[in-house]
Amino acid sequence: MIYLDNAATTKTAPEVLEVMMPYLMDEFGNASALYGPGTRGKKAVNEAKRRIAETIGASMEEIYFTSGGTESDNWAIKGVAEAYREKGRHIVTTRIEHHAVLHTCEYLEKQGYEVTYLEVDGEGRVSTEAVRRAIRSDTILISVMFANNEIGTIQPIKEIGAIAKEENILFHTDAV
Ligand SMILES: Cc1ncc(COP(=O)(O)O)c(C=O)c1O
Repeated sequence: MIYLDNAATTKTAPEVLEVMMPYLMDEFGNASALYGPGTRGKKAVNEAKRRIAETIGASMEEIYFTSGGTESDNWAIKGVAEAYREKGRHIVTTRIEHHAVLHTCEYLEKQGYEVTYLEVDGEGRVSTEAVRRAIRSDTILISVMFANNEIGTIQPIKEIGAIAKEENILFHTDAV
């Protein structure tokens, strides 16, 4: 088979499979339980959190594992909308987000939030200036994906993150 959809989903890397195998085959116990396979599973989850945190410059307590991309996007966007509803109800995103983000934004629009959907250029890239122009006094979240799942365009998320920080607005990226 020649697989041509790697922008959306890739084959599990052999080194990932190797590290995961013991937990898929033998140490699959409930990680919240007190018995051996459970506590060993918990230890492995915590070690994974520690390594991810170290890689991205976060603390272990800030890392959460979910069932996948859709749940994560829903959790992040609806969570911010709920927590910041008194501050404002405006969200900035792009037209080319995955449905996990777009459908969540559509849901929030029905709940009274306003969403600005930024256009992208011929290569699928959003301009940082457009992000800056879209920001309002009631903007609570900017959500721009890292790499597009259909055309592979990588967005300037470092620059967009810096703008969000400067404007004191939370920034979410769907980095699936
Ligand atoms: C960019 C992007 N966001 C979100 C998702 C949804 O992820 P999941 O299928 O894990 O819910 C995908 C899935 O392909 C994706 O490519």
